[in-house]
Amino acid sequence: MDSKVFNVGLGNNDFETRKKSDSDFISFWNEQAKNLSWFSSWTKTLDWNPPFGRWFVGGTLNASYNALDIHQNTRSKKPAILWEGENGDSRTLTYNELLTEVQKFSNVLKSLGLKKGDRVTIYLPMVPELPISMLSCARIGVIHTVVFSGFSSNALKERIDDSKSKIVITADGGYRRGSVVKLKSVVDEAIQELDCVQNVIVFERTKIPIKMNPKDHLWSELMKNASTKCEPEKLSSDHPLYILYTSGTTGKPKGVLHGTGGYLTQLYSTFKWAFDIKDSDVFFCTADIGWVTGHSYVVYAPLMHGATEVMYEGAPDYPDISRMWDIIQKYKVTIFYTTPTALRMFMRFGDDIPNSYDLSTLRLLGTVGEPINPEVWKWYFKTIGKEKCPIIDTWWQTETGGIMLSPLPGLETIPLKPGSATLPIPGVDIAVVDEGGKDVKVNTKGYLVIRKPWPGMLLTLWGDDEKYKAVYWSKYDHSYYSGDYAIRDEDGYFWILGRADDVLKVAGHRIGTAELESSIVSHNDVAEAAVCGIPHDIKGEVIIAFVVLKQQIQKNEQVLRKEIVEMVRKGVGPIATPEQIYFVSKLPKTRSGKIMRRLLKSIAKNEKIGDTSTLEDEAAVSEVQSAFNELKKSAKNTKTN
Ligand code: PRX
Repeated sequence: MDSKVFNVGLGNNDFETRKKSDSDFISFWNEQAKNLSWFSSWTKTLDWNPPFGRWFVGGTLNASYNALDIHQNTRSKKPAILWEGENGDSRTLTYNELLTEVQKFSNVLKSLGLKKGDRVTIYLPMVPELPISMLSCARIGVIHTVVFSGFSSNALKERIDDSKSKIVITADGGYRRGSVVKLKSVVDEAIQELDCVQNVIVFERTKIPIKMNPKDHLWSELMKNASTKCEPEKLSSDHPLYILYTSGTTGKPKGVLHGTGGYLTQLYSTFKWAFDIKDSDVFFCTADIGWVTGHSYVVYAPLMHGATEVMYEGAPDYPDISRMWDIIQKYKVTIFYTTPTALRMFMRFGDDIPNSYDLSTLRLLGTVGEPINPEVWKWYFKTIGKEKCPIIDTWWQTETGGIMLSPLPGLETIPLKPGSATLPIPGVDIAVVDEGGKDVKVNTKGYLVIRKPWPGMLLTLWGDDEKYKAVYWSKYDHSYYSGDYAIRDEDGYFWILGRADDVLKVAGHRIGTAELESSIVSHNDVAEAAVCGIPHDIKGEVIIAFVVLKQQIQKNEQVLRKEIVEMVRKGVGPIATPEQIYFVSKLPKTRSGKIMRRLLKSIAKNEKIGDTSTLEDEAAVSEVQSAFNELKKSAKNTKTN
């Protein structure tokens, strides 16, 4: 571990907040919740029926009201969203304009028959209509489920079907790397066999020609005569705000269900503590709203604080690698929040490009989604932050709802260590434990667990309480299992070491091995497949696949590779494209038939393979090993993209 520490503080040392959170986490969060606007107060702060937590029981509120209505007296003309399209289009929406759009669209949703508790799938590019759609759902108590617009029709179909959405909101297309990604046609394919979908709303982003079906409506047509007034529903604190599908270790993506009062309380507090948000700030988070970072820190947290934020539609390196610096200069961004993958990519192009832009407005820099290499951290600190901006390395997950580990310059000044997400936020109890659940010694690798309920915690997995219990609460008694490895150093700082399970992080995107494997085996010539991740300089991790073909298949391997890649792109989406595909005659398995992915990973990473006593057939290991070595030699010929 890099022991050099960096002392960059903002002089906020609110020791009282820390002290209070240590003494009683329930009364601590009780106080924090008072920062929100409630229609009626709660009667019980936490109802903990392990492992189900319900916060601020009896209280009623509305997320859209907290994001928009509360600012109308003081900030109605303040820009909420400064939007920039990839093609250079731009729009500004003030808090007043955003509220008007949301009220109109809420009325549109109501006029299509939606009622409190119904589900809506949103499959939109990064345009203001995406937060407008989400906030409109929230306003009328409808549960939104946003699907990242890079997912394939098959992945979209699975998610619409699981949530039984009545409406799908999409666009004709969106811009990505200079081309139009046709989204409406993906939706058409996804809903072909789904009876649950009654209406499709199409926002005209690109104006490309589209085929309209009987269920389809144009956004502009529906909005034309919509009334501009729609009262927010008074919703109970545990009313579900959204489902967000995420990858786990088992087959299908899991629908993480978040509530309202607890979730918003954690967002409000963490945005204040981690980003020290002020009315004068211009916040820019580069995450796509299709992932949890976008839900929490593009939509709900900044708007609850009445912040001005930049929202960008396209690829961060289009038309060239200076795009982000250009946006920071143009909009005078003060807080920038991005991923280690993006930073590694920018860093490769050297200092001259960022140095030729005026980045002097920046005062805080954040990172999220994967471990950040200390040298990248230092580059971010020196070249982008000019050694005056704290680096806020935030660890959290779709399931935690909001930031859990992070430096908190809005609260206190602590020394920063490059590569460490530092300390837990106040009011949460995080530990690193061994297989038996005991705290590990200092600087020893273990599993990251959360020992007490926290306000942003998921309510459950959509329609599957048993799976919720099994995935997160069965490995340890009374602790939430995060699936991450970590260590804690002599100062109590946490260092995240990556996933302990079969979940991959490719360019920060969370991808499950099971979904990938099921796409690969859907190819007619494939008998079995196993995938794992290997380290990559830019993307952090890339996917490699070991494939066993059905007997007697004699096809050109290059052709097969192309076809398999196509299956993955169709099954999951282009983000899951394997970097390399290896053909082997058998996979290493345990005697009970389970694929030993740990072994594949060790071979691919050139590590010791450890205990093989449960292995069924040693020959499988040597075959994988030689396939890997062989292909490493001729890597150029075997790359799939
Ligand atoms: O492995 C951890 C990694 O991302 C996982 C959660 O992914 P997702 O649900 O997609 O949410 C990502 C955005 C919050 C974690 O289990 N991760 C997230 N943040 C960090 C991280 N790994 C290291 N350092 C981080 N700051």
